[in-house]
Order: sequence, then structure tokens, then C-alpha cells
Amino acid sequence: MRHPLPEARWPTKAEAECSRLFSSLRLTSGLELTQRTWVPAMVPWRATEEGFVTEENRSWYGRFARGRPGVLVVEATGIRDIPSGPLLRIGHDRFISGLRSLVERVREESTGETRLFIQLIDFLVIRRRPDPLKFFRRYLRITDAHRRRLADVTGDESHLEANDREVRETLLVGDRAFLEAVLDSRELESLDYGYRERVWDLHLEHIRRLPDVLPRLFAEAACRARDAGFDGVELHFAHAYTMASFLSALNTRDDGYGGDLEGRLRLPLEVTTAVRAAVGGDFTLGCRYLGDEVIAGGYGVEDAALMGEAFAGAGMDFLSISKGGKFEDARQPRIGDAAYPYTGPSGQECMPTTRIGPPGPFGRNVPLARTIRARVRQAGFVTPVVTAGGLCTFDQMEGILQRGDADIVAAARQALADPDMWRKMREGRGASIRRCEYTNYCEGLDQKHKQVTCRLWDRLPVASDEVDPPRTPDGRRLLPPD
Ligand SMILES: Cc1cc2nc3c(=O)[nH]c(=O)nc-3n(C[C@H](O)[C@H](O)[C@H](O)COP(=O)(O)O)c2cc1C
Ligand code: SF4
Repeated sequence: MRHPLPEARWPTKAEAECSRLFSSLRLTSGLELTQRTWVPAMVPWRATEEGFVTEENRSWYGRFARGRPGVLVVEATGIRDIPSGPLLRIGHDRFISGLRSLVERVREESTGETRLFIQLIDFLVIRRRPDPLKFFRRYLRITDAHRRRLADVTGDESHLEANDREVRETLLVGDRAFLEAVLDSRELESLDYGYRERVWDLHLEHIRRLPDVLPRLFAEAACRARDAGFDGVELHFAHAYTMASFLSALNTRDDGYGGDLEGRLRLPLEVTTAVRAAVGGDFTLGCRYLGDEVIAGGYGVEDAALMGEAFAGAGMDFLSISKGGKFEDARQPRIGDAAYPYTGPSGQECMPTTRIGPPGPFGRNVPLARTIRARVRQAGFVTPVVTAGGLCTFDQMEGILQRGDADIVAAARQALADPDMWRKMREGRGASIRRCEYTNYCEGLDQKHKQVTCRLWDRLPVASDEVDPPRTPDGRRLLPPD
């Protein structure tokens, strides 16, 4: 199914000036947004291997800032001091000065108009899908349970006395039905998709201890963000990562941090309290979480509305609502690749393309924001709600705000296609906006851990008055031309 881009009617400058979209909003923290437009977090794969800010990061965020969105959120940034490839990190004080230089660039490019937040993320171990030879000879931990099942399946009790090497070699030559009879479901998953930790793996000491360490790690990272000059932090409670897994209806931890909604909310609320205590009341603190997990056994908007109420009650300054993006339904990766949480049905809901089913990708997630916001308001909180997903025209965005479906509208891919979109709209030049096609070339690059660019501009020829722009190793422009 293909959905055409929605017709766009662009406002005149005068109309934009009196629109709700370009009206200001003061958060409970006291921070004033000059407009209700927002660029949500997007990982561009431009940090150093050690997680430091590069000139490419500065120019990337600087370019978005030139479009003067009300808020720009810096990509998911790791709160631990562990290697994570070319993704930004904030798990140690040595990262602060680079982050400060990024803040300064955004201030300059937006002449101080854009508020800058940083998304703080924790994630668990996920390994690449192994070569079966290596899996059986090296990775699989052989136990007596394997010996017992081997004996049962073959009717040969000598397997009970087999050494590890013999068990490994027997498994290595087994067909699929044989493996399914001998390996447990997690071992099969590790073979088929690559090993992946769960927050409910309580047999692992470091997983059991997550509630002891995460509040402090998030709080310290938030303090570094404040020291670097950011206007606020967005706690990443969405998609496939640690905190979203605590909130997940699949979370079966039986130590008070899983099970019913109260248990699943416990750690996110403890993290929120710890961060707030560390940064103070005048620093903006919000979170991004899922309005719907869109997976079998996952939670839906009813739970998400109750979570919204709890987060608002805990003093969040904004709630940014996303959808899906889970590992549970991700496509099987090729051998040597890691699973990517945006390849299954829940991933398609997270970054919907023109091929998605009815009602199409445009504003598809707005009903989630509407339900959550209604619940938060009913409970007496004024916490602003941010909605994203296929938002690309003025009428769409203004309609959402006028109807009270959300308080702020976010556009990720449309802003990537044309970072000047907000400014053009505001100045009555909307007709010149380069419109996103929502076919996810950019997301394909993210999946391959390549520097993210947009197909609408990354191969544009160099203009006669243009200096040859910086490029990726495979020759793509790193930034759109002015
Ligand atoms: C390349 C790329 C990277 C993304 N990285 C993040 C991220 O770091 N954190 C996050 O919460 N969402 C991330 N997203 C999701 C977007 O913030 C957004 O929710 C999604 O693309 C839907 O909005 P849109 O239709 O306006 O693009 C990413 C999206 C893209 C396309
Ligand atoms: S690559 Fe495609 S989906 Fe991504 S921002 Fe550009 S036009 Fe939109």
C-alpha cells in the first residue's frame, strides 16, 4: 500500500505569526520554548569511536539549529563509561567539554532561539548473530540439561557421560528439529539472532543490580549535561532499551521492579526522582516513552496513559510519545550482524513509511498522544505532550495543537530532509520546503551504522558558488546545501 504525501497548504508569514505552532510555551522548569516545534533525537553516527563529539557532530546539530526549531534533541547518548562505537557518550566528565562545544554551536546557529536537550540512554548487551560453528564450539555454555535432553532425544544414555567437546560436536551436526529438542528457547534465540540480555535475567548479577546503579548513572549524566550547558535532558524510556524494558508488559522481574504496572514503573520513577534531586527544579527534565509497544504481550495506550500520569506526578517537564521499535519482533539479522529493533512490525510503527497499512504514516501516532494527554490533564497536570510520526505539513501540525491532541509537534525525518523547514514555514516560504518522501533510506543507513544522510540531498551536485562540502567515505554529502 502506498500513501501519497499529504497536500500541503503553507501559511503566509502573517498567518504563521498568529498560529499556535509558532506560539511560545513555558515549561514547569521555567524554560520558555519560543515555538512548539521540535526535532526529536536522531542518531547520525558521527561521534568518534570513543564517543566524543566531532566537528561533524557540531555541524550536524548546527545545521538543524539554523532552522530554529523550538527544541532540538541530541541523539541517544550513552550514560555508561563503556565503548559503544561512534555514538555520543556522557558517562564520564571527560565528555563534557566536547558536548559544551556542541551546545555553543547550536546557540550560535540559532542565535539562542533553539532550546537544546540531550537524550540519555542505557542499553543492555546485544551480540551479533554468530556463525553456528563458533556458537557450538565456543559460545554455548554446556550444562547437564543438554546431556539429559541429548540422552532423551537419542535414547542413548552415554550422552550423560559425554564431555563438553563431545556434546558440542553432537550439536554441531544436528538438524533443526534436533537442536529445537536439545536447546532451550534462549539458546535457540542466541543461535538464530545473537545473544541478547533482558532486564528480567535475574540470574545475572549485573542485571539484578540495575535498580541499584541506574538512578545514580542517569543522575550523574544529567548533571554533566547541565554542566555542558544543555537546557534539559530527555530520559530515553522508549523503544528497545533498558528503561523501556522495565516499563514493558513483558517484564517479569519478581523483585518489585516488574510484573504489574506499579512494579514496572518503579525504576523509571526512581530514576526520575534521582535525576531531579541531582539537577534541581529549574533544569528541564522529560522523558520519551512508548504510547504502545505494538508487540505480542506488550502494553497499549491504556497503560501508557497511566504511565503519563505517574511521570507527570513525578515532576517531568514534558512527555514525548513514541511507538514500537522493539527487538521482540525484529527481523532475523544475517550472520555477523546484530538484530535491529526497527525491522519488524513494531519498528515500522516507530518510523512509518508510505508503505505502511491504513491510515498511512502521516500523524499515525497522534491518537496515542491525545489519550495520554487527556489522562494527564484529567489528573490535574499541565505537563506538555510531544507527538511525532509523519508530521510534515502546517495544517496537520496546527490542527493537532488546536484540537489539543498534543502541546508540541515533532518532525524527525522531515527535518532531516530539510532542516530549514520551520524557518521557511514561519517566514511564509513553506512552498520551498524539500519534502520528506518517508521511504526510509536514512533509516537504512542507521541500520548499517553508516553516517545518516538524506537521499534528497546527499548526491546533489556542487553549486558553482559552493565550496566542495565534507563527504562520507562513500562520497555522500554530510549536510544539505544551504
Ligand atoms: C536515522 C534515525 C535515527 C533515530 N534515532 C533516534 C534516537 O536516537 N532516539 C529516539 O528516541 N528516536 C530516534 N529516531 C526516531 C525519531 O526520533 C522519530 O520518533 C521517528 O523517526 C518518527 O518521526 P518522523 O516520522 O518525524 O520521522 C530515529 C529516527 C531516524 C530516522
Ligand atoms: S532519506 Fe527519505 S525518509 Fe529519510 S529524510 Fe530523506 S526523504 Fe525522508
